[in-house]
Amino acid sequence: MDHYFTKQTNFYGNTHPHELIEQYGSPLYVYNESILRQRCKEMANFIPYPNYIANYSTKANANLELLKIIREEGLHADAMSPGEIYVLLAAGFKPEEIFYICNNVSIEEMMYAVNLGITVSVDSLSQLETFGQHNPGGNVAVRINPGFGIGHHENVVTGGKKTKFGINDDCIEEIKSILKKYKLNLVGINQHIGSLFMEGEPYIQSVRTLLDIASKFEGLRFIDMGGGFGIPYKKQNDEKPLELESFGQQLAEILHDWSARYNPDIQFMSEPGRYVVAECGVLLGTVHAKKENGGIQYIGTDLGFNVLVRPVMYDAWHDIEIYPSNSKNENLDWETVTIVGNICESGDFIAYQRLLPPISIGDVIGVMDAGAYGYSMASNYNNRLRPAEVLIQEDGSHRLIRYRDTLEDLLRPFPSKK
Ligand code: LLP
Repeated sequence: MDHYFTKQTNFYGNTHPHELIEQYGSPLYVYNESILRQRCKEMANFIPYPNYIANYSTKANANLELLKIIREEGLHADAMSPGEIYVLLAAGFKPEEIFYICNNVSIEEMMYAVNLGITVSVDSLSQLETFGQHNPGGNVAVRINPGFGIGHHENVVTGGKKTKFGINDDCIEEIKSILKKYKLNLVGINQHIGSLFMEGEPYIQSVRTLLDIASKFEGLRFIDMGGGFGIPYKKQNDEKPLELESFGQQLAEILHDWSARYNPDIQFMSEPGRYVVAECGVLLGTVHAKKENGGIQYIGTDLGFNVLVRPVMYDAWHDIEIYPSNSKNENLDWETVTIVGNICESGDFIAYQRLLPPISIGDVIGVMDAGAYGYSMASNYNNRLRPAEVLIQEDGSHRLIRYRDTLEDLLRPFPSKK
C-alpha cells in the first residue's frame, strides 16, 4: 500500500525524493511528464465526436513548462484572468485557442482579451451590457447557469441557486435584447457546474439542459460544456478513476443528435482542469518535529497551507507516502498521526489522523495528486517562500521548471527608498 502510486507509475524516474530535495530544496513540487501527457490524451479523445476540443482550465496549474506540454498534446485553454491569458500566450497558445471565461471584471480586462482577438464569455446581464457598450457589433459568448451544480465542497459548486456564476435560463429574452441593442454576435454559450464529480450522470444532465438552451439561439459556433472531471484522491483505499469511455460515448450520442437537428457545424468544448494535472504532481516536504498533544501524534513538516491549501480550505484528502531517511525496522507498527505545517494557525494541516508507517525527523513526506490547485493556490503567507517546481521528463531525467521564491522576491513589490 505504501508508495503504491509512485512505484506503479515510476513517478520519480531515475531519481529519488531525497535526491530531489537535496538538489532543489524542500518543500518541492514534482511533476511527471508521462502522466501529464497521458491525461491530456485522455481528455483530448474523451468524446468520440469529430468537432470536439478540450480546453485545459489554466487555473488548476499555470506552470509555463506544463502549459507548453499541454499545448503540444493538442489541447486549447480557458483563462480566468489577464494573467492567465498572458502566460498562455507565452506558452505558445494562439489567441483563437484561448477562451476567456471571466467573472465580474472591469472593461479594461475584457478589452485586454478582445484586443488580442480572444473570445470573451460574460456571465451576467450587466457584464453583457458593459461588453456591448464598448464592443458594438462584436463577438461574445455567454455563460449559462443551468439551474443546478455539483462539487466536492460547497465552495466549488458553480451552478444552481447559491452561486454568483452564469445567467439563468429565464433570462434568455433579456440576453437576446441586449445582443440586439448592441448588434452583438453570440458565438458561443458555456457552463461549468462545479468541480470534482466521479460519475458522469450530473454532467450529462447539465449538457442536456445546456443544449435545450442552445437550441433557442441561432448562429452559435460553439457550445462549451464545462469541466469538473474528478480524479481518485483515495487510491490507497482503492478508489477507482472516472469511467471515461462510456461517459464519452453517451455524450457523443447526445451531441450527434443535437447537431444533426440544429447545427451540423457546431463545435463542442469541455474545460478540464483537475483531470489533466492533478495526478502528475506530488508535493514533497520534510519532517522537522514530532510531538504528542491531547492524544494526537503531530508530525511537524514544512508543508504549511501556504504551499498546499486544499486540506485546510476544503477538508480535502490527499494520499500520503513516506520516504524514510534511514532504513527502518520493518516490524515497527504503523501509527495514526496528524501531519501539520509551519504556519501560525492551528488549522494548518495536510493530513488528519492517518494510519502511516513509522515517521522520523528527516523523513520526506510525499503528498499525492497535488498537481491541480496546489502551486496555483500557493501564497507567501507568513512571508514564506513558494517552492520550486521540477519535472521528471519522459526519459526519467529531471529539470527545474520554476525557481523557488527568494527572500529578495519578498521586497520586490515595494517602491525603493531614494
Ligand atoms: N471552467 C471553469 C469556468 C471553472 O471555474 C473551473 C474551475 C474549471 C473549468 C475547471 O474545473 P476542474 O475540471 O478543475 O474541476 N480549488 C478547488 C477547485 C476550484 C475549481 C474552480 N473552477 C480545489 O482545489 O478543489
